[in-house]
Amino acid sequence: MGRLRVLERQLFPLGEEQIFELVSQFGTPLLVLLRERIIANYRAFQRFLPGVEVFYAVKANPHPLVVGLLASLGSSFDVASKQEIALVASFGVSPERMIFANTIKRREGILYARQVGVSLMTYDNEEELKKIARFYPEAQLILRLKTPSNGSRIDLSYKFGADPQEALELLQRAQDMGLRPVGLSFHVGSPCHNPKTYATALHIVEDVLEKAQERGLFLTLIDIGGGFPLHTYAVEGEGSLEAVSEILRPLLGAFLSRGFRVLAEPGRSIVGNAGILITRVIGKAWRSGKIWYYLDDGLYGTFSAIPFDKAHFSFYALKESDGEIPATLAGPTCDSLDVVAEDVLLPPLEVDDLIVVPDIGAYSWASATNFNGFDKPQVVMV
Ligand SMILES: Cc1ncc(COP(=O)(O)O)c(C=O)c1O
Repeated sequence: MGRLRVLERQLFPLGEEQIFELVSQFGTPLLVLLRERIIANYRAFQRFLPGVEVFYAVKANPHPLVVGLLASLGSSFDVASKQEIALVASFGVSPERMIFANTIKRREGILYARQVGVSLMTYDNEEELKKIARFYPEAQLILRLKTPSNGSRIDLSYKFGADPQEALELLQRAQDMGLRPVGLSFHVGSPCHNPKTYATALHIVEDVLEKAQERGLFLTLIDIGGGFPLHTYAVEGEGSLEAVSEILRPLLGAFLSRGFRVLAEPGRSIVGNAGILITRVIGKAWRSGKIWYYLDDGLYGTFSAIPFDKAHFSFYALKESDGEIPATLAGPTCDSLDVVAEDVLLPPLEVDDLIVVPDIGAYSWASATNFNGFDKPQVVMV
């Protein structure tokens, strides 16, 4: 009974009956997206960080239902490829509402951005400047800086970001090549549970801006990236958008009052807690004295969030029981790497029982494959 109560709290507003109804209509595995939660997350961002323009990071969940909903709310978008630009544009979003926030772009991506007019784009190295000078010299350029990732699960300044010491040279280089450097960006890592990491990044930005100004390079835009926690309000041991915004609001307010445009690229904090996966037990075996449940979704599907996003999930069985036993959960593919979780406490389950996984809306379905012929889970929005 206790477990089902937890389930109700976590999955609100999705009740047990509705889960069974959805499953009978759409089958499993099924990713259920909560429309009201996406709307609430988007609005929370606007409320907590007024004046900051939200560019939803499409990579977190590029499902057309998500992109369409956010487009209708007036969101702007962070896109990383030609395909993401085309997807967002298909919802009637104008090119000014997109930023090409990938510092290493394919040539066809740059050409497509030029063709459709997506002119804001990031860079962090000279080779990228050469490509941009060749294929889209009128683009507005944002230099991405490497900043610390303290308190973040994924470090996004390892593969990307110019060393702040090289920043002036790279800005100057852009100017000398006849290009248009307009701003600076960073990404504190994802999710970032230490709000001070944003403050540190902004101090680095301030320092570069000052030095740039001394050289006559006047920048007017800052992009604070993503990394915002999954929850709006504090959940035990985790950061919250509220806590981050308390630190950010005064700092960003100062930039806004100086006439800067301030952008953010939240992905996880918009869709992460708006996704619930319903998966089914398709097989069961005892191996070396342990119970294994085989599910119809695995590491090559929605649970790709585990290897790629280092995610940890909670699992709830839709079954009343007096006792629980530690179980291994495995995916449906023939790869023995496809083990989703071990020692998960669950009631004894049978083939066809359902397992529900909340907070799985970001970097999950997005990276699912159809390895071994298993389709990506269906997605519905309720
Ligand atoms: C450039 C850029 N912007 C924004 C995001 C979204 O970050 P998050 O989902 O942590 O908000 C990412 C994530 O990888 C990113 O690489």
